Amino acid sequence: MVKISVIGAGAVGTSVAQWLLVKGGIDELVLVDIVEGLAKGKALDLAQSLPLWGSNIKIDGSEDFSLIKDSDVVVITAGRPRTPGMKREELLSINTEIVKSCAEKVKEFAPNSIVIVVSNPLDAMVYVAYKVTGFEKNRVIGMAGVLDSARYRYFIAEALNVSPKDVQALVMGSHGDLMIPLVRLANVAGIPLTELLEKDKIEKIVERTRYGGGEIVSYLKKGSAFITPGFSVAEMVESIIKDEKRVLTCSVLLEGEFGISGVFLGVPVILGRNGVEKVLEFTLEPEEKKALLNCAKHCEELISQIKL
Ligand code: LAC
Repeated sequence: MVKISVIGAGAVGTSVAQWLLVKGGIDELVLVDIVEGLAKGKALDLAQSLPLWGSNIKIDGSEDFSLIKDSDVVVITAGRPRTPGMKREELLSINTEIVKSCAEKVKEFAPNSIVIVVSNPLDAMVYVAYKVTGFEKNRVIGMAGVLDSARYRYFIAEALNVSPKDVQALVMGSHGDLMIPLVRLANVAGIPLTELLEKDKIEKIVERTRYGGGEIVSYLKKGSAFITPGFSVAEMVESIIKDEKRVLTCSVLLEGEFGISGVFLGVPVILGRNGVEKVLEFTLEPEEKKALLNCAKHCEELISQIKL
């Protein structure tokens, strides 16, 4: 029996649940939200799609956190989203409180689960969940790299008019303006991006990727992206519950990898039944290393402001 719970039935939480339902491989799906009726309503709406999709998983929603009991994976999406012009970092204090209270419930009701955090500022919120749950580092994972890399890959595909499926690229570091869309390793079916696209065009894509979330906030005005964020979480959950050992960029606690310790940053990891099975470390160019250290410093600064 595979049970997944999603805390926060807002746009991202709902999108996570919807993609999980479509992907399959789970037996029970739970939505929890403190807003009365919200999770119940979303769960009911999702459940009514089961005859059309041809699935029979159990779906439930509630304000009662005990519903997450014995989940294999708990996804924390609860928190305020950005509004136009706002940086993710401005959500630090309000979302620390929210993620903290969710993490306490996870510790209480689903002590053996793997936790995926989506709330912003992402790398700091994963730290909060890690500290509050007290779970081992392989069981507390932040979602950002899959999303940022998907944006990067899409923009590359669009510029080259090739199938997005054939673009491989990696965005490392923090989930914010300092993120590092690696140019050197981006490729189309194995062909280096640098051989296919002019330097200035690549630079524009890198820049657009860095502000990919903000661009969407500027259009939506009342919230942030949710479709691809939800799909990105579902990819991670799928790799965990099916033990696929996908290599996905996730925000994890570094303890010496890439020469960095004590902060959560996006790096490529192997995701399997135990959560983070391994960080895939590789040699960075001096410029890339510098950029990653800069992300580490930024995360450290954010963490130092957190009072739990
Ligand atoms: C984004 C938000 C979810 O990048 O951080 O769209």
